[in-house]
Amino acid sequence: MVSSNMLKHLALIMDGNGRWAKERGLKRTKGHEEGANVIRDITTYCSNHPTIETVTFYAFSTENWKRPKLEVEFLMKLLDTYLKKELPVYQKYNVRFQAIGDMSAFSKTLQKRILQTEELTKNNTNLIQVLALNYGGRLEITTTVNQLIAQGKTTISEDDISRGLQTPYSDIDLMIRTSGEERISNFLLWQLSYAEFYFSHTLWPDFNKDELDTIIRDYTNRTRRFGGVK
Ligand code: IPE
Ligand code: IPE
Ligand code: MG
Repeated sequence: MVSSNMLKHLALIMDGNGRWAKERGLKRTKGHEEGANVIRDITTYCSNHPTIETVTFYAFSTENWKRPKLEVEFLMKLLDTYLKKELPVYQKYNVRFQAIGDMSAFSKTLQKRILQTEELTKNNTNLIQVLALNYGGRLEITTTVNQLIAQGKTTISEDDISRGLQTPYSDIDLMIRTSGEERISNFLLWQLSYAEFYFSHTLWPDFNKDELDTIIRDYTNRTRRFGGVK
């Protein structure tokens, strides 16, 4: 059977790092470290997939600043280390890296690393890997509307907003959240309008390509109606 649902843009809420560590009597930070390795595996899978053009990972929300200072600091450091280590992998798999979110809250060093990685991978064409960093769906929409007002717009259309977002690539086709939680947590609110959702009980550090493959097969067989009749 020819697949009826094309999968172009996959989004993932990587949840459960802390619980994964706790189950093993480890610090939460160990869970984040393990979780970072899974991002690489899933990105590699996506780069080999025939139709996926963009994969967006939720790595740090605008609400995650509420966490203990030491955990936040660890996550910032981990992000820097991840991007540094990842550069050869992006180049090898021809992956373009892009960040979305309000980067101005990050240290200058981290901001520089993010910009450099974007710059050095900007000509890669196989896949776009987007990391949502200090990202909030409400913040993204509000910022976009304010930019449109500043440009002199008095009436704003859906298309204006869609085009003005930091993520104009495409709407999300499939959104997966791990760890059993069934909520959006302020992820891509606008872009998820007609996404298919999949909630997995697997904790993010245990998530892998085989499970993703199974979920994509499930997605392929769903009926997407977009308000119409099928
Ligand atoms: C997701 O795992 C990683 C981030 C939000 C940065 P969590 O750290 O939320 O793990 P749990 O939900 O506490 O298990
Ligand atoms: C969502 O996970 C944010 C990221 C995965 C970056 P959280 O663990 O922060 O979400 P809540 O607090 O359980 O909704
Ligand atoms: Mg969580």
